[in-house]
Order: sequence, then C-alpha cells, then structure tokens
Amino acid sequence: AFCFINSFSTPIPTLMNIAVIGSGTMGNGIAHVFAQHGFSVSLIDISQPALDRALGTITKNLDRQVAKGSLSDDDKTATLGRLRTFTSLEEGVAGAGLVVEAATENVELKLQIFRDLDRYAPQDAILASNTSSISITRIAAVTKRPAQVIGMHFMNPVPVMKLVEVIRGYATSDTVTAQVMDLSRQLNKIPTEVNDYPGFVANRILMPMINEAIITLFEGVAGVEEIDTVMKLGMAHPMGPLQLADFIGLDVCLAILRVLHEGLGNPKYAPCPLLVNMVMAGRLGVKSGEGFYQYT
Ligand code: CAA
Repeated sequence: AFCFINSFSTPIPTLMNIAVIGSGTMGNGIAHVFAQHGFSVSLIDISQPALDRALGTITKNLDRQVAKGSLSDDDKTATLGRLRTFTSLEEGVAGAGLVVEAATENVELKLQIFRDLDRYAPQDAILASNTSSISITRIAAVTKRPAQVIGMHFMNPVPVMKLVEVIRGYATSDTVTAQVMDLSRQLNKIPTEVNDYPGFVANRILMPMINEAIITLFEGVAGVEEIDTVMKLGMAHPMGPLQLADFIGLDVCLAILRVLHEGLGNPKYAPCPLLVNMVMAGRLGVKSGEGFYQYT
C-alpha cells in the first residue's frame, strides 16, 4: 500500500514511474513535463506512428526550451532518455505508480481504458484522467479502486501552463489527493483542488465566456477580430476567446458546453447555433485548418 506522503517529501519509488495513455497534444505534453522533472515515463498509444510523432513534438519543444536557455542540452538528452513508448497498455503500465490517461475525449473509450487499467496497472497505482469534462466519479465507478481514481487536468500547452486542476471524485481518498497535489508541485506546476461537478472549475467558467463570444459574433454585435481585440487588450488575456476556441478545438468546446448544459440543467449553457453549425461543417479550428480564423 502507499504510505502517506506529506507535501515536499520524497516520493516512494513507484511514484517515480509514470505511464501516460494517449500521445496526442495533451499526452505528449504530460509525458514531456514528467520526463523533464526526473520521472521515468512510459508513453502508450495504440498507434506506433502517433508515438513517433509525439517523440518528434517533444524533441521540438525541448529544443525550443534549449534555444531559450531554460534547459541545458544535457537535460534535454536526459529527458528524452527517460521516455519509453509502448503500443501495449498491459506492458506500458507494468510497474507504474501513477497512470495519467489523456486519450480522446470520448466517454465509452475512457470507461474501457479504465477497466483495462484496473486490470493491468499495479494494485497500488493511482489512476488519473486528464479529462476536461467527463465525470471522475463515473470513471472511478468502473474500477475496483475508486478511492485511487482522480482528475489531473493539465492545460494546453502543457510545458508552459502552470495550472493542474486536481479533481476529487466522490470516492477519491485524502491520501491520493495529497499525493497528486505533491506530484504536480514536483513538475513545478501549481495544483488546485476542486470537486467533481460538470466542467469542474476551469471549463465551467471558460466555456460560457467562449460561448458568449460566439453569440456576440452570431448576433452581429462585432466581428471576430474586434471581439478578440477587446478581450486581449481590454482584459489582458493572452488570446481572444475566438482564437482560444480555435486553439482548443471547436468540437471540444461544443462537447464541453453540452456537458455543462446537460449536467447543470440551465439554459444559459446552451451552445450557440453558430458553434454547432461550424462543428457540423468540419470547421474545427487550428486542427482542421479553419475555424474563426484561417490556418494555412
Ligand atoms: N512547449 C514548450 N514551450 C512552449 C510551447 C510548447 N508547446 N508553446 C509555447 N512555448 C513557450 C515559448 O517558447 C515561449 O516561451 P518564452 O516566453 O519563455 O520565450 C512562450 O511559451 C510563449 O510562446 P510564443 O512566444 O510562441 O507565443 P505566445 O506568446 O503567443 O504564447 C501561448 C503562446 C502560451 C499559447 C499563449 O498564447 C497563451 O497563453 N494562450 C492561452 C492558453 C490557454 O488559455 N490555455 C488553456 C486552454 S484551455 C485547456 O487547455 C483546458 C481545456 O480543458 C479546454
């Protein structure tokens, strides 16, 4: 069993072994920061080409840090040396103290992954999800270890953003919460503990702002650039809400708004019809080459 760990204490050895499921944008960022901070990381994906691309992205982002002087060449080499890739979940999670799932945001897929993790990950392992909106309590309920299931919600771009939103499911234990808070601090991040309700805190507040920006555009109050300029220069946001929506993915924004709308039962969360149309038309933002802006 895990021993209780106080903040800033040295972790028990298995907690130095991290498995990350999914090698997309979030998964490769999560693997990057754990490896950079001295953890051994197994990055797992069903697709070997996706794993190869992820290692390429991590290398590129480490190069960026080296070029800027925030990381030495030796640290870059050591970071890459702590990363291993697997296409088998069973092999990848053997010996892990913490598994962070960052697969596609699809409920059935995540539930199946957690059933598999419960079967193959060591009994003591903490099972975390990077979900941005699926209930941690629901995910935990498909495992036999709901006290060890927790949300660890990183923000994109993971190597840059300081926040980890730590989400306690209904059954998550105090010990596991303290361990995950401590691990997040070891990544030089600031963890924030929140409870498991729709959208948690980050997206409960961010998505209505993005939706309101889209409604403002839809109603013809102002154009895309005007709306973003007001929020960027007027409120000192690094990106305007429409550019941020493109960056997050309009399909992801729509899915999260639907979770808020359904889960909280308040019409104020209803997604703007323009957002629904854009997603149906395949205009998903940066990843599809076009959203509120063009990316070519
Ligand atoms: N890896 C490593 N470093 C990176 C990086 C990456 N992937 N991406 C950017 N950086 C670094 C750059 O090297 C640069 O570092 P310095 O300032 O030290 O030189 C810094 O980040 C800024 O990058 P750029 O100069 O290239 O570009 P920028 O100034 O436009 O900043 C940004 C880019 C950090 C993305 C900034 O625009 C920003 O903060 N945007 C908002 C991000 C945000 O809100 N994220 C949360 C989205 S919501 C979410 O993730 C959760 C959800 O559930 C939907």
